[in-house]
Amino acid sequence: LEEIRHKAIQHIREAEGLKALQDIRVSILGKKGSITSVLRGMGKLSKEERPVIGEIANEVRNVITDALEQKVKELEQIALDKKLQAEAIDVTLPGRPVPTGGPHLLRKIIEEIEDLFIGMGFEIKEGPIVETDYYNFEALNLPQNHPARDMQDSFYITNDLLLRTHTSPMQARTMREYKGEKAVKMICPGIVYRRDNDDATHSHQFTQIEGLYVDKNVRMSDLKGILDVFAKKLFGEDREIRLRPSFFPFTEPSVEMDISCKVCGGDGCSVCKQTGWIEILGAGMVHPRVLEMAGYDPKVYSGFAFGMGPERIAMLKYGVQDIRQFYLNDKRFLTQYHQA
Ligand code: PHE
Repeated sequence: LEEIRHKAIQHIREAEGLKALQDIRVSILGKKGSITSVLRGMGKLSKEERPVIGEIANEVRNVITDALEQKVKELEQIALDKKLQAEAIDVTLPGRPVPTGGPHLLRKIIEEIEDLFIGMGFEIKEGPIVETDYYNFEALNLPQNHPARDMQDSFYITNDLLLRTHTSPMQARTMREYKGEKAVKMICPGIVYRRDNDDATHSHQFTQIEGLYVDKNVRMSDLKGILDVFAKKLFGEDREIRLRPSFFPFTEPSVEMDISCKVCGGDGCSVCKQTGWIEILGAGMVHPRVLEMAGYDPKVYSGFAFGMGPERIAMLKYGVQDIRQFYLNDKRFLTQYHQA
């Protein structure tokens, strides 16, 4: 028995896995195991020997059982330690950057302008990019042979369908929708197209934001007031606006609005002309014929309209040098303004 105990303890100590331990258990404590056979052979012993041998055998069995249990625990702990080590995560390592997208600079400018006009009670409208000749020109007081309707500037699809050359058709469409009955106070952002050779300041595709306010007693001073608020909110309180006489067939009188800018140094220095003023938008009082064609009585209603180019505004505000940057999808350009 002493020998069995001695060998068993040694084997258990050397065992390298749970399987080996199981084999040891079977060879000692199993049905045919060494201790089991000793206990079975007790019958052959004398009366005096039996209790003595029995006690020793039991003790040896207990010792071996304990040793086995102990070893199983040890092996399990080792296995667990190994696993934890293999799966260890160093939480102090710097993370891998996840590339994220962001709104395009133009989108941001458009949304900023939208918010501004929403705050002044305007609603946002959107209209078709493929437009009829009627809405793009005729409803805006540009009849068939009007010189301002330069065919060279338009992308025609059929005889009377074209890519809209401005967002002004939405003036006529919205007034029609409101049936000459209620006030209209909307802005409409959208893409427009003109036949142009692309260069730093020209693009055949660009965006515009149209504005229209029609109601009883809308006056030129209302236009000037709203444009002044717009310029100061977008560019800063120190900016001033000036209106110059101009011509558009669908407004009378017509104006162009300039915004004051620093001739050099600071933002948009290169787009600011030597005069210290830069042209931002076209505007005017809605032409009576345009009101009439859309179902509004010019003796009752009056209104103003304006149209601006978000690219130009973004160029001025952020010092973008080349209009083509907006459409090249150069990531270096796009990511530069994510924080702006
Ligand atoms: N549609 C004109 C343009 O594209 C801008 C404009 C809009 C002028 C509204 C007056 C009123 O140049």
